[in-house]
Amino acid sequence: MDYRQVNIGIIGLGTVGTGVARILLEQKELLKTRTSLDLNLKTIVELDWSKDRDLDLSQVKCITDADTLLEDPEINIVVETIGGYEPAFSFISKALRNRKHVVTANKALIATKGMELYKIARENDVDLLFEASVGGGIPIIKGLREGLVANRFKSIYGILNGTTNYILTKMHQNSLEFADALKGAQEKGFAEADPTLDISGGDAAHKLAILSTIASNSFIPFDKIYVEGITGITKLDINFAQSFGMTIKLLAIYKRYEEGLDLRVHPTLINDSHLLAAVSNELNAIFVKGDFVGNTMFYGPGAGERPTASAIVSDIVDLSKDFMVQNGKKYSNRAISLTQNVQLIPIEDIKSRFYLRFMTMDKPGVLSKISGVLAENNISISSMVQLESHEKDNYVPIVLLTHEALEKSVEQALQKIVKFDFVKKDYLRLRIFE
Ligand code: HSE
Repeated sequence: MDYRQVNIGIIGLGTVGTGVARILLEQKELLKTRTSLDLNLKTIVELDWSKDRDLDLSQVKCITDADTLLEDPEINIVVETIGGYEPAFSFISKALRNRKHVVTANKALIATKGMELYKIARENDVDLLFEASVGGGIPIIKGLREGLVANRFKSIYGILNGTTNYILTKMHQNSLEFADALKGAQEKGFAEADPTLDISGGDAAHKLAILSTIASNSFIPFDKIYVEGITGITKLDINFAQSFGMTIKLLAIYKRYEEGLDLRVHPTLINDSHLLAAVSNELNAIFVKGDFVGNTMFYGPGAGERPTASAIVSDIVDLSKDFMVQNGKKYSNRAISLTQNVQLIPIEDIKSRFYLRFMTMDKPGVLSKISGVLAENNISISSMVQLESHEKDNYVPIVLLTHEALEKSVEQALQKIVKFDFVKKDYLRLRIFE
């Protein structure tokens, strides 16, 4: 059989690019059988060719200059796996302008510059796909855009960052403090040397911006998402969560209301009986509720060479189907349709149940003063725990769980409570998953 050839170029032979090259070379026959196409890895652009990547690249053009690839008329699909904003943005826009389809895993770029890039893609009648940008090997973008296309999305709850999930899991399992668990994540190679974007929640927010854009058909700017990271969580809070039968997870939340979207990323207490509580270590999961399908859950590896490359190749195969059409016309346009203009609900107006942990002096009147401030702000307490002091300074932890309350009321109450001279300034406020 004569297989039609699709020529592919990769920019960046780091972890993910290497995985893509490996699949295109090692699974060539399997992909031929499944697609009836010859997915030909023609060119790889990489600055550092000194590293041994355990790949046979004898049939591949290995170069250092991206323009040579981007201007090659034979190249049909460009895979960008260098990450970061520049030169990735310039390479992708040039590829699209030269009418090449592009596949990327670059979540930060798609979450911030996606709108510009989709426009360039549409103007040039090519596509930009990014399945690997969220959830690594989990086909969540395809899941939302294809498998669940018939649904309006009522809610999406995602564990979207493997590093923070690994840290929180180890804090729960081994009773570690945050800094020790982070060190473990770095040793295992999950966290970056500078893990700021992971632990601050920024990486999960990039991914939430992408999922929300797809789910709402409206471009969601990443910087409009409320974000809190996990650095304030202590062993003490983990112990309290466990005593309540709950687990702390960094959740990316999408909820659709009549008035708009509630989007946020923050550490959240989840009941141990919920499926998301059992998602441990570096794994990711996304719990999606559609109005027709009901509840679904997508689960799997959210990072790493092989899972991320697996997602990238699924995009390559999707794009390659265009080359099966005889007259050269595409039979579908995969560009995201951003026709809606949804409002985002400000965090102040969101209601949740809360976990409030204070360190207070152990003396008469402390509790009544704290609960008085909560009552003034219309916040009702559902339970309270105080531990005995084992510290020389006579401060004790007090945890209050509240009934549903408004964010702005809780914020006002907290500002007042931390002004009491018997309360330490480093309190912790967590939302409880409902
Ligand atoms: N730093 C990311 C994580 C890598 O920990 O999930 C995958 O996007």
